[in-house]
Amino acid sequence: MNLILLGPPGAGKGTQAQRLVERFGIVQLSTGDMLRAAVKAGTALGTQAKAIMEAGELVPDDLMVALIAERIDEPDCAQGFILDGFPRTVAQAEALDHMLAERGLALDKVVAMEVDEEALIQRIVGRFSCADCGAGYHDQFKRPAVEGVCDQCGSTNFTRRADDNRETMIARLAAYHEQTAPIIPHYEAGGRFARVDGSGGIEAISAAIVAVLEGAGAAGGR
Ligand code: AP5
Ligand code: MG
Repeated sequence: MNLILLGPPGAGKGTQAQRLVERFGIVQLSTGDMLRAAVKAGTALGTQAKAIMEAGELVPDDLMVALIAERIDEPDCAQGFILDGFPRTVAQAEALDHMLAERGLALDKVVAMEVDEEALIQRIVGRFSCADCGAGYHDQFKRPAVEGVCDQCGSTNFTRRADDNRETMIARLAAYHEQTAPIIPHYEAGGRFARVDGSGGIEAISAAIVAVLEGAGAAGGR
């Protein structure tokens, strides 16, 4: 199964992708995570991307298309993949069509997650994660069971993303509306597009996505 999880920053793409990985045994391809790893490793891509990400803008299409093209050729993608954060522009969506056609692959579903803007800002401003294992937390919605200790690995080191502040979030939302939302019509026409309300609880949203993926209510979404 090959999927796209589409949605604005904070919609829950990463949260839901991780749950789909466990359920369906497919891999998550988060371009944001790949870029953050490149920044941390100090690669040429990371050096170029760092300031762009901190400004809440988009990294150039040619770099992103090359990154994904290389990644989907790796053997772990053969069972299927979830694209999280890609495509993000019309040019990236067109390049993805081409890339998939060249490899004889197809998209099974494009799931667009919808959440109102104030809730998105609240989610992003409160987000933090374990610096050692990457487990995700939130100041209000998901605190560790023992204050200051990671539930998963016991670490006491936590980190926040450089772009998770109100000012950068406003720029990220603007980039989403100007450059990413216009890809929706690219997918809407086909029967594989579905909209899911991303504003409820994490479990309920997972159930709605799984229902879409397993066919119930998949008739073009709403
Ligand atoms: P990227 O890493 O993709 O960030 P994003 O799209 O801004 O999305 P986020 O990761 O912030 O949100 P999410 O939807 O994954 O939400 P999450 O599950 O974490 O990209 C970062 C940057 O990299 C871009 O700005 C750009 O510069 C660059 N980039 C990446 N891809 C690119 C591309 N293709 N082209 C060009 N540039 C690119 O949830 C958020 C928070 O809410 C968490 O704390 C979570 O615990 C909480 N939460 C989740 N679900 C719920 C819920 N249902 N209820 C309550 N809280 C919830
Ligand atoms: Mg994410």
